[in-house]
Amino acid sequence: NSNNIRTLSGTSRLAGVMGWPVAHSKSPRLQGYWLAKYGVDGSYMPLPVAPENFVSAVKSLRDLDFAGVNVTIPHKQAVFDVCDQLSDRAQHIGAVNTVTFTDDGKILGDNTDGFGFIENLRQNAPEIDFTCGPAVILGAGGACRAIIVSLLEENCPEIRLLNRTKARATALAGEINDPRIRVIDWEQANHCLDDAALLVNTTSLGMVGQPPLEIDLAGLAAQAIVTDIVYAPLKTGLLTQAEARGNRIVDGLGMLLHQARPGFHRWFGIDPAVSAELRDFVLGVS
Ligand code: ATR
Repeated sequence: NSNNIRTLSGTSRLAGVMGWPVAHSKSPRLQGYWLAKYGVDGSYMPLPVAPENFVSAVKSLRDLDFAGVNVTIPHKQAVFDVCDQLSDRAQHIGAVNTVTFTDDGKILGDNTDGFGFIENLRQNAPEIDFTCGPAVILGAGGACRAIIVSLLEENCPEIRLLNRTKARATALAGEINDPRIRVIDWEQANHCLDDAALLVNTTSLGMVGQPPLEIDLAGLAAQAIVTDIVYAPLKTGLLTQAEARGNRIVDGLGMLLHQARPGFHRWFGIDPAVSAELRDFVLGVS
């Protein structure tokens, strides 16, 4: 029965993810799920592009009338300079992960990582109140800046920033330049948890193949919410330890799923849902 056959048409909307390498990216599976679920006439593909070809590739996609692209490692900074316009979020964060091509050929850059972080917490810890106490942030790498900026936007009263290499945390705090950020020694982690509302791991510690994150949660406030941006494994050592103490935990997969929503919405016209079925699908469970 040819009614079941789905193909692209002459008017299909096209998007994809540019990275180098890009084979590991979960974005095609994630966006492909939504395209099928919502019956969108469109496609989302992996677009491997080496750094030296990146700028010309973005302009070519614009000229080919793509709706937009996600941009991942190592292009998140390079794309910043190619954009004709940047959202406030992209400007504050200094990196772009979502590009939209306008009908008149403009390249618009946005950064949705902070949105994904906040939306994941709102969905999975609905009682969360970002204004009610300090957030303790472990790490000062690429993933961290969007998280700090988004927490400040949510009127978080204090950010305690701890990184193994303290100079990196100090530099990041200086760049964001908000008096609510306090840099604390990595070794002092155990001593700044008693009044925390939120604890976030943004380091790679606890990820499959990486060393564990060693932190003593004995002093952590009972009402603190604990989240990890690591999602392989889904339940990291940090989350296991926090859950055993009775703290609410939120794993990192939701951040990946929610950060993809603004792109899909802009390119294909639907704000898609993040469901349990989608989580299983992206993990390859179903
Ligand atoms: P990205 O920019 O992609 O986030 P990154 O810059 O390598 O990746 O950052 C990884 C984060 O994990 C950093 O905060 C790093 O701390 P340093 O700035 O001191 O390198 C942190 N990290 C990685 N391995 C660590 C370890 N063994 N102990 C403590 N922190 C570690």
